[in-house]
Amino acid sequence: MNGNTIAKAVIPVAGYGTRLLPATKSQPKEMLPVVDRPAVQYVVEEAVASGIESILFVTGRGKRAIEDYFDYSIELEGELEQKGKKDLLHEIREIGNMVQIFYVRQKIQRGLGDAIYQAKRFVNGTSFAVLLADDIIDADVPVLSRMKEAYQENLGVILAVTRIPREEISQWGVIQGKKIGERLYEVEDLVEKPEPEEAPSDLAIVGRYILTPSIFESIARTTPGKGGEIQLTDAIRSLRGSERIYAYEFAGTYYGVGDKIGYLKANIAFALKREDLGKELREFLEKLREEGLHEDGVKKWRR
Ligand code: G1P
Repeated sequence: MNGNTIAKAVIPVAGYGTRLLPATKSQPKEMLPVVDRPAVQYVVEEAVASGIESILFVTGRGKRAIEDYFDYSIELEGELEQKGKKDLLHEIREIGNMVQIFYVRQKIQRGLGDAIYQAKRFVNGTSFAVLLADDIIDADVPVLSRMKEAYQENLGVILAVTRIPREEISQWGVIQGKKIGERLYEVEDLVEKPEPEEAPSDLAIVGRYILTPSIFESIARTTPGKGGEIQLTDAIRSLRGSERIYAYEFAGTYYGVGDKIGYLKANIAFALKREDLGKELREFLEKLREEGLHEDGVKKWRR
């Protein structure tokens, strides 16, 4: 491992999940299942597949289910062992062995920038990755591993971006960039959640970042921005001039599982790809399309 390798990742999970209420009233949005595993597991798996060795979860009150999930579950494992359910036992056990995990609490929610600031000691002067648990990307090669390659060649901040329709752009951080490679841009400016007419492009920041340790000083200087929150986008913007900032336009399908429609789409798309579920779900969807959702049609599909 050379000194430029990104081995640490930060996953902020302190948010309330208001866009998924009421489901998130008493459980973390990151624990809602996409098919049969919690949304956060997809993101942890991407980090591990990209060579991340330790992860810091920035948590908050009401998020203990995440800690329990990545721990061993002794009673459950005993039960599965007794019943001879070896495959399930192995799968459950492996979740606790995936990667070394640390936890810190963001006591007051002051925004994404402030959440990342809680990682200062964990990061301890190295460059590191940030993955947002709301953003699941289905890609042949994990997006973070591609970003790590880009980092090796262009030491600096790297942001994952994708093209978003103009009418939706005000939900995103947006970059203005100069294309310097097939998928690489040099970022000239970035703005958090601009009005469509003020957006500098249609390239939106998706929840994968490689950040340099200078981000912490920058966050400390950042005053509340959009929504009265300390925005990570604003802190990255202040690094212009002192750090090179790049954007990597990834190949893959993005699902924003932090809102209802994105969550539903992710569930359907991932289930359709599954050997044990895909065929029956596809038949069901085709039938729904043909027959509509009238009472008889639904009845026929009940088991
Ligand atoms: C955050 C960032 C935003 C980024 C988005 C990606 O916003 O502030 O720049 O585009 O994540 O999902 P949030 O979705 O938390 O409001």
